[in-house]
Amino acid sequence: MATINVGLLGLGTVGSGVAKILIEEAELIGQKLGYNLRLAKVCVRNASSARNYSPPSDLITTNPDEIVGNPNIPIVVELLGGLEPARSLVLKALASGQHVVTANKALLAIHGREIFQKATEVSREIKFEAAVAGAIPVIRVLKEGLTANRIQSVFGILNGTTNHILTRMTQNGLTFQDALSEAQKSGYAEADPTNDVEGFDAAHKLALLTALAYGTLPQIADFHVEGVTNLEPDDIAAAQEFGYVIKLLASSSFSPTDNRLEIRLHPAMLPKNSLMAGVNGVMNAVMIRGHACGDIFLSGAGAGMMPTASAVMGDIIEASRDLLPGAAPQVPSLGWKTLQSWSIKPQAEARLSYFLRLTVVDKPGVLSAISGVLGRHNISIAQVIQKGFDPNRNGVTLIILTHEAIEKDLLAALAETDKLDALTGPTRLIRVENQI
Ligand code: HSE
Repeated sequence: MATINVGLLGLGTVGSGVAKILIEEAELIGQKLGYNLRLAKVCVRNASSARNYSPPSDLITTNPDEIVGNPNIPIVVELLGGLEPARSLVLKALASGQHVVTANKALLAIHGREIFQKATEVSREIKFEAAVAGAIPVIRVLKEGLTANRIQSVFGILNGTTNHILTRMTQNGLTFQDALSEAQKSGYAEADPTNDVEGFDAAHKLALLTALAYGTLPQIADFHVEGVTNLEPDDIAAAQEFGYVIKLLASSSFSPTDNRLEIRLHPAMLPKNSLMAGVNGVMNAVMIRGHACGDIFLSGAGAGMMPTASAVMGDIIEASRDLLPGAAPQVPSLGWKTLQSWSIKPQAEARLSYFLRLTVVDKPGVLSAISGVLGRHNISIAQVIQKGFDPNRNGVTLIILTHEAIEKDLLAALAETDKLDALTGPTRLIRVENQI
């Protein structure tokens, strides 16, 4: 049987999983493919670091040039993370005629234009199944299974750390800080959790899903990104009273009426009976709506050594098929031979329902003052609940659910209500997503 060599850059959690599968499952993979994949070299920063899995020591090098540019290694797997040297090594591998597999969502979301352009120029592939939603093969679904669809929307829970934190807040009433500390102790959150809890990790993944769905790769500065750090247990409890669950939701949709993309990443209230609302803990999920396929819902492990390695292996295997004699042309890396340049609708123009939580003094005329401001700004109230006196906030809690409204109208109304003497604390705003 023929043998195809694979070179691995990085032997962290995911790299260890890939090395383990390539070595331990070599026979199974050979039986399925009819040829062999061989782990030829692994480049590490420090040869003596402790590992989750240790390949034979003769495979280890600290020199990436033993892999990148090596004509005997046609597939390079970049699992270093970070922007440099990952970017330079990926570009050099492509320029050397190697296919590249990566799990590096930040690299592709930030430098994707340059990297995908280079891959196209040199007719090589950059594959990144493991960069979005861990084990879930969503990239292949969008690139291949749903090619004939006009994609209407993509919704996702794309970050396991924040989903775990929100699940603990929802099911056990924990504060954000307590849920984060607990997640850090159990290894679900990093010591510096900024990238996860501020939404950047999920936003990078959303940018990549948007590119696959609509052919336009946005920068994350081009859309609304808001993490979970400000969520309070009272937001979650109040959402539950209205029949909703709060999730960090990624969404990307195409409006055929104005040919614009609507992209956003923020905490959202989802109907509690929706499939997405039932995705808990570190699990991820993606829902794709296409004009022909209807709704497709995918769920699975969004992170972890073996689930992410499974996605990387799928890419290595796909890349290896291109190296066989008479191979069919590969699907373009982003699924589009001709990329599109759709513009992105500003968040201020979004039309959504909103959940508002205000703390006010309990005296005649307060509710009518607030509803008067909302009415003047074209905001229609769908439901309102007033709670008892809260000594911690020195006022009563007023919860308002609006009908659909334009976001800039709502923000203008809140700028006015914030100035009312009757408010004793800041107003909380959470967007509602009813289309799931
Ligand atoms: N840190 C990510 C998460 C996994 O919590 O989902 C890698 O993207």
